[in-house]
Amino acid sequence: MKIVLIGYMASGKSAVGRELSQILAYPFLDLDDYIELKEGKSISAIFADDGEIYFRAIEANYLLELLSNEDDLVLSLGGGTPCYGSNIDVILEKSISYYLKTSIQTIHSRLMHEKSKRPLVASISKDGLQEFIAKHLFERRSFYERANYQVTTDNLTITEVVSQLVENQSI
Ligand code: S3P
Repeated sequence: MKIVLIGYMASGKSAVGRELSQILAYPFLDLDDYIELKEGKSISAIFADDGEIYFRAIEANYLLELLSNEDDLVLSLGGGTPCYGSNIDVILEKSISYYLKTSIQTIHSRLMHEKSKRPLVASISKDGLQEFIAKHLFERRSFYERANYQVTTDNLTITEVVSQLVENQSI
């Protein structure tokens, strides 16, 4: 079985995915880490050297590659992955998907401290960050909400989110 975690930047996809994979005894992959490994450079360097369009093309290819076999896997996606091309259809066809739903306020307070690692927000001023997140999340929400299940993560620890997935979401 393939389990795919989707959600906005800083919604906890990687940390939740890693812990969930241990409970299920499934392998874990983070799509961004996989892309960095395969391309031999960081996501920031790919955006800077090759541009976002190139990034979105390889992101779609690697997503399809990772979901196109019968192996068990917990896969955490990048925040934009479900929102481009036919990625959301591929996700729905080939996996069980979970949207980690996190409020603008929580995302904002987390991203304030880790903006620089993320090329899409690295150049946004701290003053403009909350408005950027609000608009961006509004644009993306309709893709995220197509996931098979969703869990609201605000005020929950990683372990509590994993428990919600395992107990309430029929994994
Ligand atoms: C992106 C989110 C990032 C990474 C890239 C683009 C996005 O992943 O894929 O910087 O479009 O939201 P995280 O959600 O893991 O930060």
